Amino acid sequence: MALFSRKTVLSLSPLPSFFIVLLIFSLTLLVLYKVDNLASQTKTIIGHNLEPTPWHLFPAKTFNNETKIGRASKIVRCSYLSCLTKSNIGQTTFTRESEKCPDFYRWIHHDLEPWSHTRISYANLMEAKKFASFRVVIISGKLYVDYYYNCVLSRTLFTIWGILQLLKRYPGSIPDVDMMFDCMDRPIVYKRDHSAMPLPIFRYCTTPDHFDIPFPDWSFWGWVEVNLGPWEEEFESIKKGSQTIPWEKKLPYAYWKGNPYVNSPVREKMLLCNDTKKWGAQILRQNWAHEISVGFKHSKLSSQCNHRYKIYAEGYAWSVSLKYILSCGSVPLIINPLYEDFFSRGLFPKQNYLPISPDNICPSIKNAVEWGNSHPSEAEAIGKAGQGFMEELNMERVYDYMYHLITEYSKLLDFKPVRPESALEECVESLLCYADETQRGVLERSATFPSSAPPCKLPPPNAEIIKKQIEEKRKVILNKTQLIT
Ligand SMILES: *[C@@H]1O[C@H](CO)[C@@H](O)[C@H](O)[C@H]1NC(C)=O
Ligand SMILES: *[C@@H]1O[C@H](CO)[C@@H](O)[C@H](O)[C@H]1NC(C)=O
Ligand SMILES: *[C@@H]1O[C@H](CO)[C@@H](O)[C@H](O)[C@H]1NC(C)=O
Repeated sequence: MALFSRKTVLSLSPLPSFFIVLLIFSLTLLVLYKVDNLASQTKTIIGHNLEPTPWHLFPAKTFNNETKIGRASKIVRCSYLSCLTKSNIGQTTFTRESEKCPDFYRWIHHDLEPWSHTRISYANLMEAKKFASFRVVIISGKLYVDYYYNCVLSRTLFTIWGILQLLKRYPGSIPDVDMMFDCMDRPIVYKRDHSAMPLPIFRYCTTPDHFDIPFPDWSFWGWVEVNLGPWEEEFESIKKGSQTIPWEKKLPYAYWKGNPYVNSPVREKMLLCNDTKKWGAQILRQNWAHEISVGFKHSKLSSQCNHRYKIYAEGYAWSVSLKYILSCGSVPLIINPLYEDFFSRGLFPKQNYLPISPDNICPSIKNAVEWGNSHPSEAEAIGKAGQGFMEELNMERVYDYMYHLITEYSKLLDFKPVRPESALEECVESLLCYADETQRGVLERSATFPSSAPPCKLPPPNAEIIKKQIEEKRKVILNKTQLIT
């Protein structure tokens, strides 16, 4: 309209002005249609336009309380406009020396070994895509995510947040990379089915029978649905809680509290040990619905360290509870697990936990408790060693694990990563844009800053050491002559 002089506008006959109005009206409709179309096709980090993973079904997310326009404008704002402002990320200068990584970081080489000779081709990655819920591509320090399936709760949000924090922690140091992730519980790439072409899939746990590559799970940054804050906060508060009662005053039996009904045979068997006199164990059910309604009053982890023994039982797969159980300083009684997460491979029976036989749970718990009560200083030392192990695994170390895993993995790619056409850029702002108020609070509390030291020094590959450790562990667990059978 500005192109017309005032005079011409005024002199327009009614007919053309009607057409102009019609034109503007149609253009507006077209824009609205396009925006609506975009909004109904854009897959988002909180699950818009995504189906649950077919290999692990769960109720699809609904966004019933959003209006159509509200949703469309949110998607445009968060997914397309949030990351437009460029943040200036330079290289940092380190003021501290790098430390030695914990010994178990050696497992990074072990996990990537299947591709150490063949390397990872683009075709290989596209096969892995069939098992992925999202794909993470990093190019020049920028993060692009392609969403394939929805994940339960806020797993994607917190996992991607963790990767963004890693980029912030070591600016300019994370190599270009292209990775397939699954966010559901159980590993999926059986070695026996995929020996001809191992598929690289990152997830939160693995087993010796799978190629799945373990990666730190979302709960290190927080798990809002069960009121868990960032790992460092939780560790500090659990450790403090563990010190309120001295060892000899702690209750002389084993304790477990959680959800026993998660399709986990060991948890169901463990319910039968709920008798402090007969088996030395107290097994309590966590009623999450009730906890949510009373503001998580009875689920505070820091007030669950009053027992000399804490039981760890796997859930549907690995359980995020392991790190909190170990943090208590009580003797961890670990029912020998099927699943391993990235750090549990660093634990050693009789050093930082006592193994419990899954075939004989109640008598095995009873033996461990009786042994510990008659060997108080040894038992206390095992509890302290478990707590020390978790203390060493602070967030700096978690980022270092991610750093080394991603760096070693990137060396195996035999193609140059490029941004997939359908992938959206994600940045701190886009995640905070989608997060609800509670999530935003926890995300912000778990934000990191550039490291003042380079990543810890990764131990070199050594398959022999790992083989020996596995063998030693097996021997200790199976040793029938010892007290704990
Ligand atoms: C919709 O409800 C969820 C959960 O009740 C809440 O987190 C979210 O902020 C709501 N969204 C809108 C647009 O009101
Ligand atoms: C275990 O026993 C205690 C005390 O007898 C009881 O309060 C609790 O509900 C039992 N736990 C389960 C999971 O049934
Ligand atoms: C088995 O346990 C006994 C008793 O603790 C110990 O003396 C022995 O060295 C152990 N054997 C192995 C192979 O670890």
